[in-house]
Amino acid sequence: MPDPTLQAEPPTASRPTGTPVLSVIVPSFNERPNVAPMIAKLDAALAGIAWEVIYVDDNSPDGTAQEVRRIAQLDSRVRCIRRIGRRGLASAVIEGAMSSSADYVAVIDGDLQHDETRLPAMLAALQAGGHDIAIASRHVEGGDNAGLSSRFRHVLSDGGIWLAQVFLPVRLTDPMSGFFMLPRPLFEDLARNLNGQGFKILLDLVLSSAAPLRVLEVPARFRERAAGESKMDALVMVQFAGLLLDKVFGGLLPLRFFSFALVGALGIVVHLAVLAMLRGSTGLGFEIEQALATVVAMVFNFQLNNMITYRDQRLKGPRLWRGLLLFMVVCGFGAIANVGIAHVLYEQHETWTVAGGIGAMIGVVWNYAVSATLVWRSR
Ligand code: GDD
Ligand code: MN
Repeated sequence: MPDPTLQAEPPTASRPTGTPVLSVIVPSFNERPNVAPMIAKLDAALAGIAWEVIYVDDNSPDGTAQEVRRIAQLDSRVRCIRRIGRRGLASAVIEGAMSSSADYVAVIDGDLQHDETRLPAMLAALQAGGHDIAIASRHVEGGDNAGLSSRFRHVLSDGGIWLAQVFLPVRLTDPMSGFFMLPRPLFEDLARNLNGQGFKILLDLVLSSAAPLRVLEVPARFRERAAGESKMDALVMVQFAGLLLDKVFGGLLPLRFFSFALVGALGIVVHLAVLAMLRGSTGLGFEIEQALATVVAMVFNFQLNNMITYRDQRLKGPRLWRGLLLFMVVCGFGAIANVGIAHVLYEQHETWTVAGGIGAMIGVVWNYAVSATLVWRSR
């Protein structure tokens, strides 16, 4: 007589369930009140599909990650990646997707603005073959942009779309969409070329593919934000312009270098303005006035680089002051190298423009390279 327990099914809890077909990646920053409703909506929309949701949270002060973990302890389809010391929607999405082993990855906002009921249709369309990526679009028949918070946002959004169209290898009616789905292996393929900065991960993906992606656009509504506030601002737009530049120049120079050089150029304007002001009003003597203008320009450059160039690893509190000090030391050496080299070249009978230009260039490259490793160390 065989032992009946040997034939019994193992208890459900210990039975391997296999990888899900779909990983839904949700980048999140201060979305705590939206977490539970979001997961409930996914659960309802994805009935009958093996799915998981991966929150990628940048250590939100409101405790979004803790809320996700609370639910994850009750539901193994819920996962959370908590990143510390970093910010950025695009890089969060990339890390979430890279942690998936599913057949497909979808990206959706965590603030309930995107219409998650479109997910099964997107999945079915990709599974049917013929398309590389399904994108929820607000601008195809049946889509709707009503949730954009202000007129200003509409202008920004339309302007960005127009700008992106100029550079895009494929026609997209909504290149700024933050809601899309693609096969996970394709994402992994594209990942090595991704820029990863800023908000526009979709654009980054589309621009990173060697062969034009076969795009399916799915009409979708864009709802009003339910709770919390948008993290999109003017700096995000600057980064967006940077992303386009970076792609146009084929990644020849790192995007940060452009930003750093641009900030440097603004610094010169500030320097001259301060100098002119001091000259006109103080009578301190040129050397002192020049030194004061230099310090002001350095502080200005440091602040701007900390806000824009290194936005994703912005220094705060005591690290800000330490960073500022280091930055001034680094740039001080940069200035010495700049003047020294220009002097030698000038002595060798180069014109003052060539000598000055090469000196300045070497100064910028030095400042950039050294401050990237010493001041804004990537963790
Ligand atoms: N991890 C992480 N880190 N998540 C972030 C960050 C960040 O630095 N910034 C924003 N998020 C998350 C938000 O919590 C939200 O889930 C999602 O990314 C979108 O951010 P919102 O701040 O809600 O963006 P939005 O509504 O202004 O922009 C949406 O619409 C744009 C088109 O107008 C997004 O879908 C954009 O991708 C889209 O281009
Ligand atoms: Mn939003």
